[in-house]
Amino acid sequence: MTAKIIDGKAFAATVREKVAVHVARIKKDHGITPGLAVVLVGEDPASQVYVRSKGKMTVEVGMNSYEHKLEIDTKEADLLALIDQLNNDPAVHAILVQLPLPDHLNEDLVINSIDPAKDVDGFHISNVGLLATGQKSMVPCTPLGCLMMLRGQLGSLSGLDAVVIGRSNIVGKPMAQLLIGDSCTVTVAHSRTKDLPDVVRRADIVIAAVGRAEMVPGDWIKKGATVIDVGINRIDAPEKGEGKTRLVGDVDFTSASAVAGAITPVPGGVGPMTIACLLANTVTACCRANGLAEPDDLTV
Ligand code: GUN
Repeated sequence: MTAKIIDGKAFAATVREKVAVHVARIKKDHGITPGLAVVLVGEDPASQVYVRSKGKMTVEVGMNSYEHKLEIDTKEADLLALIDQLNNDPAVHAILVQLPLPDHLNEDLVINSIDPAKDVDGFHISNVGLLATGQKSMVPCTPLGCLMMLRGQLGSLSGLDAVVIGRSNIVGKPMAQLLIGDSCTVTVAHSRTKDLPDVVRRADIVIAAVGRAEMVPGDWIKKGATVIDVGINRIDAPEKGEGKTRLVGDVDFTSASAVAGAITPVPGGVGPMTIACLLANTVTACCRANGLAEPDDLTV
């Protein structure tokens, strides 16, 4: 079997087109431009790339982008004061504080200081609780993108066995909640899981979100399973020349794609969907803040 490649780039382009249509309508009918504020503390190179990309795409779909770049030694009180200012700014409908934060800043405190209605990442404890209890919330962008691709590939997920490898607050835990919401039987596996290969072999849906290069080989994958690879790992690529590197996922793509029914590539799978879902969540937050009907094609 050769797996169907789930084209996250094309999927994300479709989501962004829908976002742009909604943004144009909101501007025309209500004179409101959705606005996303992104806060970056320090100069982590990967975070800088993500933040630049988010800003560019926000503008491309017609929304306002507000970027706040703070020094690495920013005091917690100053960061909290900026968040308070953004919470109270009616032009800002969505706030994202790029993670990880420098060690001297309390990540939980910072995230929980964001107005939950503007918490476009869905990381605030209120949104985590709402999602866990099946209530309307802001849904974290990466799991939201994964669910959209799964539904696009499989239609109904009801009754399927799903394994989520990784228990992070950003991906693993909210992904498990979304799959439960879609009536999957969900196992959350992690570094202490006994006999991980066996657990993965039972799954119709595999979500790999551990951050370890190519740790899931093809012989762990059930024939015909749908594999969503959230990992983005940079490894040496001597075959490309001295000092060269390449990006790989948490799944060994070559062996897994010989067994799976469908699989996301790295790059070009989950990555583009995360930013597209961030834009979608910004529109959702803007509509809720202004009492407008929420688009039903931008969320799950
Ligand atoms: N760092 C890595 N992924 C994310 C994300 O989804 N949101 C934020 N705020 N920071 C991140």
